[in-house]
Amino acid sequence: MPATVDVSDRDLVRAAQQIRDGGLVAFPTETVYGLGADATHGAAVARIYETKRRPAFNPLIVHVPDAASATTLVVFDAIAHALAAALWPGPLTLVLPARDDNGIAGIVSAGLSTLAVRVPAHPVAQALLQRAQRPVAAPSANRSGRVSPTRSEHVREEFGSDDVLIVDGGPSRSGLESTIVDLCGPVPRLLRPGTITRPQIEAITGSPLASPDPHGPAQQPSAPGQLASHYAPRASVRLNAWQVGPGEALLGFGPDMPPQVHPAVNLSPTSDLREAAANLFDALRALDKPGVTTIAVMPIPDTGIGEAINDRLRRAAAPRP
Ligand code: TXA
Ligand code: MG
Repeated sequence: MPATVDVSDRDLVRAAQQIRDGGLVAFPTETVYGLGADATHGAAVARIYETKRRPAFNPLIVHVPDAASATTLVVFDAIAHALAAALWPGPLTLVLPARDDNGIAGIVSAGLSTLAVRVPAHPVAQALLQRAQRPVAAPSANRSGRVSPTRSEHVREEFGSDDVLIVDGGPSRSGLESTIVDLCGPVPRLLRPGTITRPQIEAITGSPLASPDPHGPAQQPSAPGQLASHYAPRASVRLNAWQVGPGEALLGFGPDMPPQVHPAVNLSPTSDLREAAANLFDALRALDKPGVTTIAVMPIPDTGIGEAINDRLRRAAAPRP
């Protein structure tokens, strides 16, 4: 989380008003920037899908300032209470049965009977949610299928010409989208890995997390795990690279990065996975420049947050639709 945040009270008042008026506000969270709208206002939420060019079947996460607010929207069970108590505010999203009378526009969850809720820890997100007095539906603030934004400049690149108010709260610290856990089935299921890791969650739930079901029924919500190509830069992405060829940029990890490659970025020279996660989307954007046809990516260990990093990289490397 940023220690200081350069957002004035006036900016926040204006942003909160824009939400209440049915407008779009891009705001920082500790994971990535979100593109937010009043979740009770169907037309406002429709503008999110339109602005992102997001397929209408891909449901949105609703952001609230605290767990008490979340319990007015969804039905908590004991595991949900335990996870919320331990990990909120923070980069964890829970999918739970929606309450009938919660006022959330149907378009938010794309017609599902479940709802994804999250309490972000970022002070600017917190201040905005408290002032707006509305649940805020917010996907990452990028065009659908593109790299998620971790800085306000990235959001401006994505939506510069659209009618979006951008609140600049500095770089997002964790840099990967929230961990999503689905608590609607017989056992808790990890729908999207994130910086809150599988073992952290299993320590609280007391049982192994199921993995996303790639062959789930068609009416199953499309978590990002089910969109094969996602988080994609313009250049193609090649994984497990130790060398680069002509036209290739290098995304490195660890101390053994091949020298004299341009352009190149090392996600973490000391092999620190948390640092690599925070740098990932920034680095993909930095390397995705004219003249670069492919971004070659060095191997990254699949342990801890590495699971989430490799998940995003596999999707970036997947064949494009
Ligand atoms: O860190 C984050 O989660 C960021 C910040 C802005 O909070 N948000 C974010 O939203 O990553 P988005 O829309 O890019 O990804 C949320 C994913 C969707 O792709 C969707 O598949 C899944 O959450 N999702 C939303 N509602 C769901 C539901 N009811 N059941 C299952 N998955 C759901
Ligand atoms: Mg996204």
